[in-house]
Amino acid sequence: MTERTGPRRRPSRPERQHPPARRRGPERPPQDDPAREAALDTLRAVRERDAYANLVLPKLLRERGITGRDAGLATELAYGAARARGLLDEILAACSDRPLSEVDGGLLDAMRLGAYQLLRTRIPSHAAVASTVDLVRADHGSGPAGFVNAVLRKVAERDEAAWVDHIAPPATRDPIDRLALATAHPRWIVQAFADALGDTADELAAALRADDARPAVHLAARPGEVSGEELAAMTGGEVAPYSPYGVHLEPGAGDPGDLDPIRERLAAVQDEGSQLCALALTRVPLAGADLRWLDLCAGPGGKAALLGALAALSGATLDAVEKAPHRAELVRASTKGLPVAVHVGDGRASGLAEASYDRVLVDAPCTGLGALRRRPEARWRRQPSDVADLAKLQRELLLAALKLVRPGGVVGYVVCSPHLRETVGVVSEVTRRGYAQPLDGREFFPGVPDLGAGPAVQLWPHRHGTDAMFCSLLRRPW
Ligand SMILES: C[S@@+](CC[C@H](N)C(=O)[O-])C[C@H]1O[C@@H](n2cnc3c(N)ncnc32)[C@H](O)[C@@H]1O
Repeated sequence: MTERTGPRRRPSRPERQHPPARRRGPERPPQDDPAREAALDTLRAVRERDAYANLVLPKLLRERGITGRDAGLATELAYGAARARGLLDEILAACSDRPLSEVDGGLLDAMRLGAYQLLRTRIPSHAAVASTVDLVRADHGSGPAGFVNAVLRKVAERDEAAWVDHIAPPATRDPIDRLALATAHPRWIVQAFADALGDTADELAAALRADDARPAVHLAARPGEVSGEELAAMTGGEVAPYSPYGVHLEPGAGDPGDLDPIRERLAAVQDEGSQLCALALTRVPLAGADLRWLDLCAGPGGKAALLGALAALSGATLDAVEKAPHRAELVRASTKGLPVAVHVGDGRASGLAEASYDRVLVDAPCTGLGALRRRPEARWRRQPSDVADLAKLQRELLLAALKLVRPGGVVGYVVCSPHLRETVGVVSEVTRRGYAQPLDGREFFPGVPDLGAGPAVQLWPHRHGTDAMFCSLLRRPW
């Protein structure tokens, strides 16, 4: 099949703002389809340049003036198709007469968009197929449009559950594989969640499904400026269940950056789990001085802002280290006006004085498997081979933190992942060697239920409504 590689044949933007009223049949959606075009362009950006869907799409919507129902549809389709990619590809492969690896990337994006509409939305099948075929015809010509039409018609023959039954192994033979397909997660991530849930692996399906639920935006009130209750009243949100500074906004409540308290720096967007981990570090009792705090991996500065505000209230100061200069700039911006000094450098060789900090946070770079619900394509981009390198870096950063904290001081090791190699694997190596004594972290998450057997804390979206943050609190021996 010959496919067009030249410029897209879609009309230019000004034309499309005044589309012809003509339709080519009673069932045909109009040719001008800004929502699906934006969704398709987002999928292409994710595939071609490793872009993040949740950064690309809002920009596209703004630039193209897409609002209201069209914006809602574009968001549902772009994020949904990006999340479900692996499942959609298995189904598309079963319906295609040639391997997907031989299909042009642009066509594949469109097929994913069409299959997502067929399997996971209430859009009528004929509209899902016809609108996708229209987009393909405009971009690639009629030959490819015919191919996509044929594949999508086959996809439409079954619903999602029937497709899973058709292509997945029975649960009795391979429960992980089946769940991976049924919940559209890579197998290695399903296995990592199962390992982390351990005795409570009966929650596995719920844990995986929570990754697909649209998360509420969480805000953190700036301590000393406004309370959680005041922030809830100012934003129309709800007081968070566990963090005294937290507020939850309705999913889809609009851009939080437009809220006055965010613009006036009285609050910031921050997952409640992140707030709880930073707060836990500040709640551990210390004998002796408590004046020097350190955030060793600070960018973009969410926890540094919370810690800096708490430090200001208690008369302490915070040093914040960040390796990436542009992220260090973000830390500077988020902590402006607070007693925070930002240092650009590698936390493993920061040059800061050893044994001089009372509290140190290591919010280490990680796979981010705990925040898959916030990053639609992340589950397909991360690779199991990432884990070993990250675990090594995490261990080195934690060891550096344990040198920087004074004897009797406390280190909070935090990752946004439940993967055991990034969590208890890293911590047990340093405690086994006697570099640190683990504290029962559950004490410092007051009011938070279902924290497991300790001593470290693993939060979960399906249990706590937070990202799956892991937090281990470690005291440096005297
Ligand atoms: C999980 S993020 C931290 C999030 C941050 N604490 C917050 O709440 O906004 C990890 C950060 O560590 C930075 N990083 C990576 N390697 C580092 C290193 N060797 N030393 C210091 N920072 C590093 C990354 O650039 C990234 O900004």
